[in-house]
Amino acid sequence: MYKFVILSLCVVHSFLPQNIALASESDKRMNVLFVVFDDLRPTVGCYGGEYPYITPNIDQLASFSVRFNKAYVQQAVCGPSRTSFLTGRRPDTTKLYDFGSYWRDFAGNFTTIPQHFKDNGYFVASMGKVMHPGIASNNTDDYPYSWSQPPYHPSSQKYHWTPSCPGPGGNHYRNLVCPLDVKSQPGGTLPDIQTTEYAIELLTNISKKQQSSNTTQPFFVAVGFHKPHISYRYPEEFQKLYPLSTIKLAANPDLPPKMPHVAWETMMMIRKRDDVKALNMSYPFGRVPDDFQLKIRQSYYASTTYVDSEMGKVLAHLDKLGYADDTIIVAFGDHGWSLGEHQEFEKYQNFETTTRVPLVVYVPGLTDKGTKPMPPGKKFPFLNPLTNSEKLNIVPTKPRPYNQETDYVHPQKSGFQSNDFVELVDLFPTLSELAGLKVPSTCPEMPFKVDFCTEGSSFVPVLENVAKGKYGMRFMWKNATFSQYPRPSDEPRPDSDLPNLADICIMGYTMRTHKYRYTEWVGFDPVEFKADWFEVHARELYILETDSLEDNNVAGEIEYIALVEELSEKLKLGWRSALPSLKK
Ligand SMILES: *[C@@H]1O[C@H](CO)[C@@H](O)[C@H](O)[C@H]1NC(C)=O
Ligand SMILES: *[C@@H]1O[C@H](CO)[C@@H](O)[C@H](O)[C@H]1NC(C)=O
Ligand SMILES: *[C@@H]1O[C@H](CO)[C@@H](O)[C@H](O)[C@H]1NC(C)=O
Ligand SMILES: *[C@@H]1O[C@H](CO)[C@@H](O)[C@H](O)[C@H]1NC(C)=O
Ligand SMILES: *[C@@H]1O[C@H](CO)[C@@H](O)[C@H](O)[C@H]1NC(C)=O
Ligand SMILES: *[C@@H]1O[C@H](CO)[C@@H](O)[C@H](O)[C@H]1NC(C)=O
Repeated sequence: MYKFVILSLCVVHSFLPQNIALASESDKRMNVLFVVFDDLRPTVGCYGGEYPYITPNIDQLASFSVRFNKAYVQQAVCGPSRTSFLTGRRPDTTKLYDFGSYWRDFAGNFTTIPQHFKDNGYFVASMGKVMHPGIASNNTDDYPYSWSQPPYHPSSQKYHWTPSCPGPGGNHYRNLVCPLDVKSQPGGTLPDIQTTEYAIELLTNISKKQQSSNTTQPFFVAVGFHKPHISYRYPEEFQKLYPLSTIKLAANPDLPPKMPHVAWETMMMIRKRDDVKALNMSYPFGRVPDDFQLKIRQSYYASTTYVDSEMGKVLAHLDKLGYADDTIIVAFGDHGWSLGEHQEFEKYQNFETTTRVPLVVYVPGLTDKGTKPMPPGKKFPFLNPLTNSEKLNIVPTKPRPYNQETDYVHPQKSGFQSNDFVELVDLFPTLSELAGLKVPSTCPEMPFKVDFCTEGSSFVPVLENVAKGKYGMRFMWKNATFSQYPRPSDEPRPDSDLPNLADICIMGYTMRTHKYRYTEWVGFDPVEFKADWFEVHARELYILETDSLEDNNVAGEIEYIALVEELSEKLKLGWRSALPSLKK
């Protein structure tokens, strides 16, 4: 009977394009759960830090994973970052720095990660915010190219700009800080709750379908959570986990005197909220009052804990269905967010706070080495921080120990960690390799006519080396990461944070090496998509060993002339000159 099934499928197969994998051939293919959080920086429990962030579910996942301490995005704003990591190419190739174009019609017919999995026989589905919605994905989230079925968007997302935050006089406002009673909201729900419900239902359907047939089509399920993006509309019960009295300002809450104005973002998006408007902050350099800064931080942390819980429910369900040992899981933020550092709130910049993200990669059989095999439901149980706080040891105490010098620790404690550089453009080749699919090779220069290639590198060798404890044996890993941010002018103006393509005349290119962050703001032609490296508007150099918070721009100091010159040359050579290489 089994043979007959295979035979009959083979007959069908011969009518299919060659690159569609046979379901029965893919019996052992791993599934993928791809989880992206909007605006999440590494204020995540397992990343340590000054404050005990409460993210038990990400931490639980991380305890079976490799967590990357140096993961960077290519541009610190949603649309360009998502188009970049989903196509495995950098903004200068996707030609997307704003939200105004769709790469297939504007840059090239580039294959996406989900499309590649779909073309290889996977069932591929998107829920919540994965592609940037709207023009950037042709108002379809790139369906049908990238997905097996139309992407799901939670119906309640349409209320994100409805005044819904309770305030003085029983009125409702469009506030930035907006803890709320979920039952009081239209439909009695919030977008991420709906996305979670959909994900759970979809996984159940997939499982039922697999059980009722003898062929298992692997799945690639992409779940995009909207929080902790502003506004902080989150269930109010999460607020009490973060008493205001325990929250501190950023360690560097002032505008650094030597930071060039072109690097400043004007916080336009938070200024539009009623509660921020009421603060009468001056434009463009006004500072958010300290007491309100604390409230923003509190709400950011609480929103993060809320989405951690939602992700936990999805993971618990995946595990309950028996998929924990054959599903690769990646969870990460689409870019960072400033929480008062440099007097800034928001993204739209080239600093650590905005370009660095949490990235956790779980590969069954590899990153869970050394852990006990667990029966279904036991590996990723849902950890509810609202009911389990003692058990989870999340009563704010001391920060978790984190040793900068140690690359990895035993998984039974807190999972593996890596200090190797990775970039979100690396996800495409990495996931392809992990799943045993064809790995896109490095793109040639001007790759607009090449549909299948990448400007990232598979970091599978890092995962293997870290999990096998053989770090640094075989190769030199990437020695820098590259990001960029556009501006319409040297001095701040209302569209500085999100300039339209036609108005971009300066591009800030930044390179993060192990010792330095070097940024050069240069002329940019938005018609030819060309940087003019001779038209330098500003330079920034931060010596991270002594200035990890990037407060002291030394680019103008005489003693650093030679270093600036050296780093400037490397920045111009770009990512191709920082690729991993085999050790001789
Ligand atoms: C772009 O790629 C898609 C998916 O492979 C393909 O269906 C489509 O025909 C291509 N479009 C063009 C204009 O080449
Ligand atoms: C994008 O959408 C427009 C309008 O629906 C359509 O004409 C165009 O063909 C789409 N582009 C691609 C590559 O499918
Ligand atoms: C799950 O399957 C049921 C029954 O076929 C269907 O009504 C529902 O829409 C499916 N849900 C999802 C999320 O695919
Ligand atoms: C699945 O396989 C079992 C045993 O090999 C067989 O009895 C059953 O009919 C098969 N089911 C389907 C849907 O082919
Ligand atoms: C902001 O300005 C308004 C109108 O001038 C004033 O009523 C309000 O008290 C000011 N708020 C603060 C926090 O200064
Ligand atoms: C990275 O290493 C390569 C090869 O050793 C070297 O040519 C390049 O200059 C280095 N780049 C940086 C940014 O250090």
